[in-house]
Amino acid sequence: MYSYTNMLSTGASTMRRSVMRDLLKLTADPQIISLAGGLPANELLPVDEFRDCLNSVLKREGANAMQYRPQYRPLKEWIAGYMQTLGVFCQPDNVFITNGNQQGLTILSRLFLDPGQPVVIEEITFTGIQQATSGMGAEVRAIPVDLLTGADDAALEEAFRQYPRPRFAVLIPDFHNPLGVSLSAEKRSRVAALAAEYGVPLIEDNPYIALRFEGEALPPIKAYDEQGVVFFLGSFSKMLAPGVRLGWIVAPTDLIPKITVLRESIDLESSALMQRAVHEFVQRGMLEPHLEQLTFENLMRRDTMLNALEESLGSVATWTHPEGGLFVWVTLPEHIDTTEMLQEAVQRQVAYVPGSPFAVAGGFHNTMRLNFSSVTPPVIREGIARLAEVVLSHC
Ligand SMILES: Cc1ncc(COP(=O)(O)O)c(C=O)c1O
Repeated sequence: MYSYTNMLSTGASTMRRSVMRDLLKLTADPQIISLAGGLPANELLPVDEFRDCLNSVLKREGANAMQYRPQYRPLKEWIAGYMQTLGVFCQPDNVFITNGNQQGLTILSRLFLDPGQPVVIEEITFTGIQQATSGMGAEVRAIPVDLLTGADDAALEEAFRQYPRPRFAVLIPDFHNPLGVSLSAEKRSRVAALAAEYGVPLIEDNPYIALRFEGEALPPIKAYDEQGVVFFLGSFSKMLAPGVRLGWIVAPTDLIPKITVLRESIDLESSALMQRAVHEFVQRGMLEPHLEQLTFENLMRRDTMLNALEESLGSVATWTHPEGGLFVWVTLPEHIDTTEMLQEAVQRQVAYVPGSPFAVAGGFHNTMRLNFSSVTPPVIREGIARLAEVVLSHC
């Protein structure tokens, strides 16, 4: 076989194996209780309702719904209305439909970033954000994240102040992946003000905002953006289903033509059929009851997980207390390395994601991300009991 190693771009040759993909393979064994996922539960996906929507679109539009088509205006109108309910006043012309937030991150990185240029991201963050920044050759300035109030705004300002100015910053303000924490209300207005003051675009990666099950809803950072420097990334992946592969960017209208051209270099358009089916779903009022059921279930699952952690690991570990989303972040005693411990956990038939892959500059070896949304409460209890056995054997 020919070796392409020397021919790859710098970005491609430094790419690490995707830990998430490796883990997903590992957890395909049905005997293993996976607390490693980042997905809604299968049994909570609205399969029958969505089938009706697809059928009705195909009946109404026939082959036209299966063609190359421009972005579906009624869906953009619905998204603009939805953003208003969150406190963001934008028009359908500010909405650009994507294939989800990962694509939104890729598009905005290509729009703003040149290799070697600085960007600011959280020191613990979703691996896809790392791929879209350091993976594209950016110089990363990582800022700490407080486990109760989210990203450190003073560190953000410090990173903004340095020259050259960062090309952009990315924050996950609601039910952070992997930390589960949300950015406090005061910090939201502060970070929007900082982005405006220093003229640094702020990407608000917010796929979880609709998944709040407790506490008071907080406006997105974009709601505090008076200068048009905040780019909101929204997604149907977690509020409806990852498989619809649809999301959106809220951006100033003068950038939409550039974003459109950039996106054409990645793929030609989002599926016309899916855009129409998702619009049918929201238009028929199916989203609200779906979210109600989903968040009700997720709250029970989170409570089950936190209670089980308290009972079995309360004396040796600490964890975050998410008010929504999918994840709890657990910190174990300093001497435990969760990457090394994973093999043992898998032998005991339970899986989690070690914290290290999320840590931009290394460290956090004694942490892990647990998912509470994708398995039922009895399975969560059993999973935490198995995990506790493994952890306690190291204490
Ligand atoms: C913070 C964050 N951003 C982006 C994504 C990618 O989501 P999408 O399915 O919308 O591409 C995820 C998925 O887990 C995520 O957690």
